[in-house]
Amino acid sequence: MNPIIEKIQAALTMAGRRAEQAADAAELEALRIEIFGRKGLFPALSKEMSTVPPEERKAVGQAFNEAKSEFQNFFEAAENRLAGCATTGIEPPDLTLPGRKWSSGRKHPIAAMIDDCVAIFRRMGFIVASGPEVEDVYHNFDALNTPADHPSRDPGDTFYFPDGRLLRTQTSPVQIRVMESQEPPVRIVAPGRCFRRDTPDATHSMNFHQIEGLSIDRNVSMADLKSVLQTFAWEMFGKGVKIRLRPHFFPFTEPSVEYDFSCIICGGKGCSVCKQSGYLEIAGAGMVDPNVLRNVGYDPEIWSGYAFGMGIERLTMMRYRINDIRLLYENDVRFLEQF
Ligand code: PHE
Repeated sequence: MNPIIEKIQAALTMAGRRAEQAADAAELEALRIEIFGRKGLFPALSKEMSTVPPEERKAVGQAFNEAKSEFQNFFEAAENRLAGCATTGIEPPDLTLPGRKWSSGRKHPIAAMIDDCVAIFRRMGFIVASGPEVEDVYHNFDALNTPADHPSRDPGDTFYFPDGRLLRTQTSPVQIRVMESQEPPVRIVAPGRCFRRDTPDATHSMNFHQIEGLSIDRNVSMADLKSVLQTFAWEMFGKGVKIRLRPHFFPFTEPSVEYDFSCIICGGKGCSVCKQSGYLEIAGAGMVDPNVLRNVGYDPEIWSGYAFGMGIERLTMMRYRINDIRLLYENDVRFLEQF
């Protein structure tokens, strides 16, 4: 082998090792000058070309070219390695450090609340039913014994489609659909989305969620309703929670009540959240009106039952101490990450 080729190869080995070990860009540049600089190794070697016999020139030239691109590879690799160190600012990774927590997807607080409500009611023997969000007037109002002139039917409160259908304003129409489709006894809960033409503020949203409950059987009484609501309150918020029923009116229940849970923040003593009353309003309930039973073909002389509705957002806001319903719909990850 031509002695020049041997020198080239020796230089390659040397440069490869030093590039690999170079501690910084300056050291790498010094190496580059040592090889390619005006007084460097390569110019010196190429001067020796004149001594090479003509028949070996081709091989020596080729060795030069190959070596040049090899050197280039060494330099590039070293540059990349040094750039990596510079940006991360670390030497080799410390394998003894604890792992970093990374976030994956999770349930939205409303979805979590619905799941938890359903789990509690299932343990009390309710099964889950559902109905359409786009309803007809009959199921949302008429069959629920709502008078023709009831204010909730107003287009200022309810979203109507041009064909007369509407976005359900409550989950109560699911009561009707279930009773139409089966004989009593009935024991269902129906969670779902509802819509009302409300101006959004801290406690109002144009779409929100309710969970409806309906139990129809022989000899069902208000005491059964009260015990189910009380059990739910205990299971959801703890054994200390008391419930309170207040007389109210709904077209589809008689008698009707609004019910409250004792404030889970102050324990009923009175605070700013419960406005010093000691209680937080949850929603409405009552004994199913005989007219509603007749509308679905149930005999009110044999069957009776209770129904209740709960506001999912209200429960969620109580549970997590959220003071603005809009936070639940903005999907700001800084908010959602807390759950
Ligand atoms: N649907 C009623 C509302 O939206 C709540 C309710 C449900 C009342 C069931 C009585 C029985 O306000």
